[in-house]
Amino acid sequence: MKKVALTLLVASVSLMAADGAALYKKCVTCHGPNAEKKALGKSQVIQGWDAATTEAALNEYKAGTRNVYGMGALMKGQVAQYSEADIKAVSAYIAGLK
Ligand code: HEC
Repeated sequence: MKKVALTLLVASVSLMAADGAALYKKCVTCHGPNAEKKALGKSQVIQGWDAATTEAALNEYKAGTRNVYGMGALMKGQVAQYSEADIKAVSAYIAGLK
C-alpha cells in the first residue's frame, strides 16, 4: 500500500515537471532558458521568483489586469490559452530554474 502511494506520488511529480518544462518552451525566446533575462529589456528577471508570485502575475496577465512596463497585452497573449493547471505547472518550473 505504502509502495503504491509512493509510486503514484513520484509519477505525478514527474508529470508536472514535464508539463512545466514543455509550457516554458515558448517563454525562452524572451525570458531566457533559465529565466535569467529581462524580457525584451523590459521585465524583471523572473529567475528566483517563487511559484506563488509568478502564478499571481500570470493570472493577472491572463485576466488583462497586469501591465507593469506597457507590455501587459503581449504577456496576456502568451498565457491566454493556459489553464489554471498550466499556469501552476509553468510557475513551479520557473521557481526551480537557476
Ligand atoms: C515576446 C516576448 C515574451 C514572451 C514569449 C514571454 N514573455 Fe513574459 N514578459 C515579457 C514582457 C515584455 C514582460 C513585461 C510585461 C509588462 O509590461 O507588464 C513580461 C513579463 C512577465 C512576467 C512578470 C515580470 C515582471 O517584471 O513583472 C512574468 C512572470 C512572465 N513574463 C512570465 C512569462 C511566461 C511564463 C512566459 C511563457 C508562457 C512568458 N512570460 C513569455 C515578454 C515575454
